[in-house]
Amino acid sequence: MPEILLLNGPNLGILGRRQVHVYGTDTLADIERAVADEIAPEYKLAGVQRDGEGELIGAVQDHYHVAGAIVNPGALMIAGWGLRDALESFPAPWIEVHLSNVWARESFRHESITAALSAGVIAGFGAHGYRLAAKALLHILATRPAGSP
Ligand code: DQA
Repeated sequence: MPEILLLNGPNLGILGRRQVHVYGTDTLADIERAVADEIAPEYKLAGVQRDGEGELIGAVQDHYHVAGAIVNPGALMIAGWGLRDALESFPAPWIEVHLSNVWARESFRHESITAALSAGVIAGFGAHGYRLAAKALLHILATRPAGSP
């Protein structure tokens, strides 16, 4: 069965107990279940969370075969140049997600160095944003021209 990668960066493994007023009470396991549910039965979920940039780069490189991806780079959106370059070589469409509305927060979160490489960005809808991203990704995969990478 083809796979979709759900990649979460630093500090997202502690969702549910991390600044719940900002990120909500859903855990990463809740989010992975929701996305798996959204993409079934056509696609299988490959869920990866790492705190280190090198490990995230490895995970991206290990998943160049998947149909698409949903990526929350966490704070690496700000200066994760190595992750950015790994994503630049990612051959399938992917969507960037942020639980919080990053533009309503501190100015250092207002620019994402990875976002321009994505098919689109979903931010500010909390954990539900991952479901929205899954729907958007399925739509892209179902409607893009035959022969696209
Ligand atoms: C985040 C926003 C980032 O600025 C922050 O560093 C995170 C989480 C979000 O999902 O809202 O770790 O990506």
